[in-house]
Amino acid sequence: MNEAHLIDAQGLGKTYGSLAVLIDANFTVSAGEIRALVGSNGAGKSTLIKILTGAIAPTTGTVKVDGKELVLGSPTEMINSGIACIYQHSNLAPAMTVLDNIFLGRQPTKRFGLLDRKRQRREAEELLQRHAIQIDLDALVSTLPTVKQKEVEILKALALNARILLMDEPTGWLAASDVAKLHATIRTLKSSGVAIVYISHMLDEIFAVCDTVTVMRDGRIISEGKVADITRPSLVKLMVGEKLAKDSAQAGKFKRMARGTGKVRLSANGLTKRGVFSDISFDLFAGEIFCITGLIGSKRTEFLHTLFGSDRFDSGELKVDGKVISFKSPTQAISNGMGFVTEDRHREGLMLGLSISNNLVMATLRKFHKFGLLKRKEIYSATGEMITDLNIQPPDPIKPVRLLSGGNQQKVLLGKWLNLKPKFLLLDEPTVGVDVGAKAEIYAILRAERDKGAAILVVSSDLEEVMTISDRIAVMVSGRLVAIHDADKTTLAEIIGEIGGAAR
Ligand SMILES: Nc1ncnc2c1ncn2[C@@H]1O[C@H](COP(=O)(O)OP(=O)(O)OP(=O)(O)O)[C@@H](O)[C@H]1O
Ligand SMILES: [Mg+2]
Repeated sequence: MNEAHLIDAQGLGKTYGSLAVLIDANFTVSAGEIRALVGSNGAGKSTLIKILTGAIAPTTGTVKVDGKELVLGSPTEMINSGIACIYQHSNLAPAMTVLDNIFLGRQPTKRFGLLDRKRQRREAEELLQRHAIQIDLDALVSTLPTVKQKEVEILKALALNARILLMDEPTGWLAASDVAKLHATIRTLKSSGVAIVYISHMLDEIFAVCDTVTVMRDGRIISEGKVADITRPSLVKLMVGEKLAKDSAQAGKFKRMARGTGKVRLSANGLTKRGVFSDISFDLFAGEIFCITGLIGSKRTEFLHTLFGSDRFDSGELKVDGKVISFKSPTQAISNGMGFVTEDRHREGLMLGLSISNNLVMATLRKFHKFGLLKRKEIYSATGEMITDLNIQPPDPIKPVRLLSGGNQQKVLLGKWLNLKPKFLLLDEPTVGVDVGAKAEIYAILRAERDKGAAILVVSSDLEEVMTISDRIAVMVSGRLVAIHDADKTTLAEIIGEIGGAAR
């Protein structure tokens, strides 16, 4: 490893009004180093990254690249110094080719477009070769699997001569096998001397791919070291503190309830949507957590949308509480006691401009109207408890959701549906971006709802989560349910085997 730091940030601080969200952070990364940046939701990780991309200017501190001090708060300056960032949500133009995306937004350097195209193609091919990435330059981005799209983003960064690659939760939407592919790409980048900063709440990923780790808590860097020198429990303790670390270690020790309390709440019989999913049959019982796992793209999300009435099925029968029904709209599903925590909080779940409390009561807003006016006081008192239960940070009901960290936004989304006291709760990847401590809290809340008799259907690709929270586990492969297990009668290996059967 190169001893000289490629990037050297000293004394970085950021305050919003009187709120300090980043305090005196010293942060360095060397060429060929993969540095993990970890910490609870709201710890300040993304804030640090945003300063390094120039998206925001720090209140205090300096950043040097190769010993040269940079002008902060300028994205152009950062790009020119070789810093690039890959986010969880893609910034690509889906209707354009890989090649066009790689060079998107760049000024043509020649007067004649054609020559430029040739040169771009040559440059791109060189990059592919140098970094051992295989991808069809002429494919439309929209046709590529998510993991390939991540590679396009990486190529785009490399084409800008990035030597420092920041990755803020890059694997949120990737299946386990794709995470491994992305890690292989990251390792080749490392060997060509790129410095990488890797943010993730998935500790397995930290231990799999990172050399060093920086831990943040409450806006400060509280610990640094080699990944090889730290154990998983001690890392968790550093991130969330003693008490929560204990809670999250306990997360798996709940009583399982195969078949719940015995009453069928929802029954799917041969549900089919042509070209999407087919012949899906299962019963969902009151008082159970039923997880559907599988690869990303196995059509689980589409299936949930049909149950919820935001999409239709072609054939088969759905019974809710013994009645044959097919919801014509989400509104109808909601009035029948169904809640749906969607996977993409930005697109469909939250109103980012509205406050925490308004989002929390969104699904139940009618209760808080009086003569056309919103009863603000009642909203605040009704949401205070939820904010505490979910440990939403900051616990300020009037804070706009857009100002919350990613994981805290996810908690607001969950709280919004819990407030409905749903009889049926559908959740799609409920803890993507949520830290280990908050995960344990969310699992406890789901168990409590289950124990009160709710029928809970979870779609999750996080196998650790699936093994932890499920009473029963179903495996979906290319739109079909290939197996349903009682969770205490199956093993992780068996589930992985069934999911993997898909790949062949
Ligand atoms: N524009 C803003 N105004 C006020 N507060 C903000 C603003 N942007 C971020 N914050 C606050 O800064 C703190 C740190 O947020 P940051 O996004 O850096 O957390 P994070 O470590 O990335 O968390 P997560 O794991 O949930 O993504 C949070 O408390 C957040 O509410
Ligand atoms: Mg973040």
